[in-house]
Amino acid sequence: MKIFLDTADINEIREANSWGILDGVTTNPSLVAKEGKDIMRRVGAPNVVIKIPMIREGLRAIRTLSSEGIRVNTTLIFSAPQALLAAKAGASFVSPFVGRLDDISHVGMDIVRDIRAIFDNYDYKCEILAASIRNPLHVVDAARLGADIATMPFSVLEAIIKHPLTDIGLQRFLKDWEKLPQQMRKG
Ligand code: E4P
Repeated sequence: MKIFLDTADINEIREANSWGILDGVTTNPSLVAKEGKDIMRRVGAPNVVIKIPMIREGLRAIRTLSSEGIRVNTTLIFSAPQALLAAKAGASFVSPFVGRLDDISHVGMDIVRDIRAIFDNYDYKCEILAASIRNPLHVVDAARLGADIATMPFSVLEAIIKHPLTDIGLQRFLKDWEKLPQQMRKG
C-alpha cells in the first residue's frame, strides 16, 4: 500500500520524505488555509493530480479532464456507488473519507471494502485512496482491505513508527552494551 501525507506543511513533507517511505502528498483547502502559505507557488511539479468533488459537474469535469490525459482524484466520496461513477467517468483515484463517516456512526472502512470488490469485479484501474485517516488502526484496516493508498496526517505517520516496547527494548540494549568491557565493544 502506498503511503501519502495529508498536509500543506512543507516541513512535514521534507521530514517524512527523509524516512524513505513517502509515496505522495494530498492536501485540501482547509489544510492550506491552516498553513496560510501561497500554495500556488509550492505546487509547481508536473506530477500533480487534480482533485474534483463528487458532484454532477464534477463527473463532467472528470470525463473532460481524463479524456485529455489529465489525472483526477475524486474527492469527498462517502459511498461505494459514488466511487463506481467516478471510476466510470475516468477518475484515476477515488478518495473515500473514512474518518468523517466514522464521525457520524457509519463504519467508514465498509465502503473501502465495497469499492475494492466493485473495482476488482470490473477490473477498474482507478486507485482507492483511503482518506480522512485518523489513527493507526485505520491504516491497518485500509491495508487489510486492499486500499491502494492511505493518506494520513503527519501525527498518524509518527504514531505508526512508535511502539513503547521498541523504546524500552532499545534502552535495554543500549544499557547492556555499556556494561560490556571497553575492549569487547571495539570488536
Ligand atoms: C484527503 O485527501 C483529505 O484531504 C483528507 O483526508 C480529509 O481528512 P479530514 O476528514 O481529517 O479532514
